[in-house]
Amino acid sequence: MDRKVTQQVTRATFDEVMVPNYAPSAIIPVRGEGSRVWDKEGKEYIDFAGGIAVTALGHSNPTLVNVMREQAGQLWHLSNTMTNEPALRLAKKLTEKTFADRVFFANSGAEANEAAFKLARRYAFDNFGPEKNEIIAFYKSFHGRTLFTVSVGGQAKYKEGFEPTPGGIKHCDYNDIEQLKAIISDKTCAVVMEPIQGEGGIIPADIEFAKQVRELCDQYNALLVYDEVQSGVGRTGTLYAYEQLGVKPDVLTTAKALGNGFPVSAMLATEKAAKSLAFGTHGSTYGGNPMACAIAEAVIDIIDTPEVLGGVAKRHDLFVEGLKAINEKYHVFKDIRGMGLLIGAEVIDSLAGKAGEIVKASAEEGLFVLVAGPNVLRLAPSLIITEQDIADGLARLDKAIATVIANNKAA
Ligand SMILES: Cc1ncc(COP(=O)(O)O)c(C=O)c1O
Repeated sequence: MDRKVTQQVTRATFDEVMVPNYAPSAIIPVRGEGSRVWDKEGKEYIDFAGGIAVTALGHSNPTLVNVMREQAGQLWHLSNTMTNEPALRLAKKLTEKTFADRVFFANSGAEANEAAFKLARRYAFDNFGPEKNEIIAFYKSFHGRTLFTVSVGGQAKYKEGFEPTPGGIKHCDYNDIEQLKAIISDKTCAVVMEPIQGEGGIIPADIEFAKQVRELCDQYNALLVYDEVQSGVGRTGTLYAYEQLGVKPDVLTTAKALGNGFPVSAMLATEKAAKSLAFGTHGSTYGGNPMACAIAEAVIDIIDTPEVLGGVAKRHDLFVEGLKAINEKYHVFKDIRGMGLLIGAEVIDSLAGKAGEIVKASAEEGLFVLVAGPNVLRLAPSLIITEQDIADGLARLDKAIATVIANNKAA
């Protein structure tokens, strides 16, 4: 059956028919290739945002397009009353390549975290009784937007007005082991952390801190849950960031780049922990369907190679050099930090709250960048972005920053 799309829509349609929880920019991209994107009018953009650390292999990656087409012609969905070959192959790969023995598939980062937090509660319940139910997480962390994940997340603004939120959750400062020591106890069932805080401002964990968190979890029989939704799948230069910390978690969540934009996520767990999500305790209709898993399998095959992972460090250096050169010219950043291709540039105090202005000015110049909080400009481009795209994008960022400075002087 042939079907033709005739309905005309514009950015104004968003304000008429969409729930107003987002405020998208005026741009409506219609096509992408590698790290370049075009809108309806044919204006070209360079993508340093990667759909918020998602399109790690770029837009319309030809291998992924083929995998998707092939799987689409075979089988889309069955539900978890049956298993399927792509899911089994992907789970085998993830367990072979990581600390984990078992995998649960879901569709988004929040859902993978929801599963991880439920697993932590259930594991403690099964092994130590109902009193051991406290989850400890860190201020500034972000774990998703479901009621449980905003509650574990360390940013009050995401919980406001949604109370009562789930209880039994405590927070302390990231990279401050003394604070964690003061609140961890026999009641703690899990400590949840991002190996590098993303939304919180691109803040890497200190290696010593990460090691001591692991030791405290062991001492108190608490599970260590790593949220690698943003940092995973090659983003930091290793398949998962925990590899660089020399610490193995008990549970890890992965999403974003796992499907390169096709919704898929996973919770990885040790055998010991996974046992507690026994038959009937948890589930998802879509989670682990053949479409999503076929694509994710190809993503892992491509990313977990010396070419791609090795290329991350080289690209990191190019970005950091470029940002430093911009900074020498304009003196706008007080810190440039990050791991691999998750890079943050924190603006100086006189530009506090203005990172969003840089995002807007960049879009005008034909460049997508992100913020991580009000003061940090965040870059999370494709892991295979070309040197030419990096150079061209940095030149556009240079112009955008000149505009922001001029506007702020005028104001
Ligand atoms: C560390 C982390 N965890 C969880 C999430 C939530 O993922 P999703 O938006 O796919 O639910 C995000 C999203 O930005 C994230 O960065």
